[in-house]
Amino acid sequence: EDAEKGGYPHYMLKEIMEQPRVLYETYTGLMSSRELEKAAEILASADHIFVTGAGTSYHAGLVFAYFMARIARRPVITFISSEYLAYRSLDHSNSALVAISQSGETIDTLQAVRSFKSSGGRVVAVSNVVGSTIPRESDTTVYTRAGPEIGVAATKTFLTQVLALTSIALALAVHTGSLTKAEYTEAMRELRNASHAASSGIDRSIRLVELLASSLRSKNNIYVLGRGLGVPLAYEAALKIKEVSYIHAEAYPAGESKHGPIALVEEEFPVIFVGVPPEDELLEKLQSNVMEMKARGASTIVIGTSSYRELEGVDFYIDVGNYSEILAPYAVVPPFQLLAYKLAVMLNRDPDKPRNLAKTVTVE
Ligand code: G6P
Repeated sequence: EDAEKGGYPHYMLKEIMEQPRVLYETYTGLMSSRELEKAAEILASADHIFVTGAGTSYHAGLVFAYFMARIARRPVITFISSEYLAYRSLDHSNSALVAISQSGETIDTLQAVRSFKSSGGRVVAVSNVVGSTIPRESDTTVYTRAGPEIGVAATKTFLTQVLALTSIALALAVHTGSLTKAEYTEAMRELRNASHAASSGIDRSIRLVELLASSLRSKNNIYVLGRGLGVPLAYEAALKIKEVSYIHAEAYPAGESKHGPIALVEEEFPVIFVGVPPEDELLEKLQSNVMEMKARGASTIVIGTSSYRELEGVDFYIDVGNYSEILAPYAVVPPFQLLAYKLAVMLNRDPDKPRNLAKTVTVE
């Protein structure tokens, strides 16, 4: 087992560190197959597009919906796969569902696929396991090439899903004319750097995360707040922290924090802000949220692109470098994964096998 961990003490850490390589493999795999074109054809012919998944895969789905609106200019209906019943009475004959599942076996996501197909819908699966049930039952599959993920908490599969899903949004955009061929080529060339962005996110945070984890290890609650693309990344960050460290972490859209969450904030309450592009639209708004929290005595932390250095009232800052909107997730997410990992280790939890959790949930 030690050899399989490649010299790392845990699979989770090994899998976090593998991200630059598996992002590159996912990228080259997508570029050398026709998977994106097939997915784009199905989505282009649909009047309504849905996206579903469970856990981390659902968060990747939220990133997809964000980029579909921004890049492909198509609204997407997102739902957690166990909630598929809400849509069971709709006629799906002009709809497409993007079903995201790392394992391809999660029962709720499979049920959503079956329910959708039985009412005439077409399904695009996004999965890491060739030949698994969800890809088998779908009309086409876009594969992530993350290799086997052993740690129960998803890490490398999340960012490879984000890469595959962003590529699908771009492929649809060029298919429908929202992007010109030249713009598409340029964007895909940019995505090639997802791997470098992940390396930068890891390198720039690895030491600071240690300090941050020492100051957070004794906390009972943590808020993670973001805006725009930062919202799904905040959800994923909070999920990672609670899964492996058992510290209660809750994510909210920053703008929503005054509608409830702020009531809990008192001296030293840790609030982590996710800072992503477009900075010209988001930075000022996030500044107000930082100030609101600071005024109640919160410890304010920012994990974000370099532009967020301008924020005032921040106690601790991890600068992941400056990246465009489509590249920011790869730089911003690894510091959160490393933070969750460090907290687990400091608190003597086994990050690879968190209590009560299974890698794949095959019962409803
Ligand atoms: C379980 C795992 C999570 C995963 C979720 C969905 O809860 O512990 O890490 O995100 O299932 O799994 P899937 O294989 O469908 O992506």
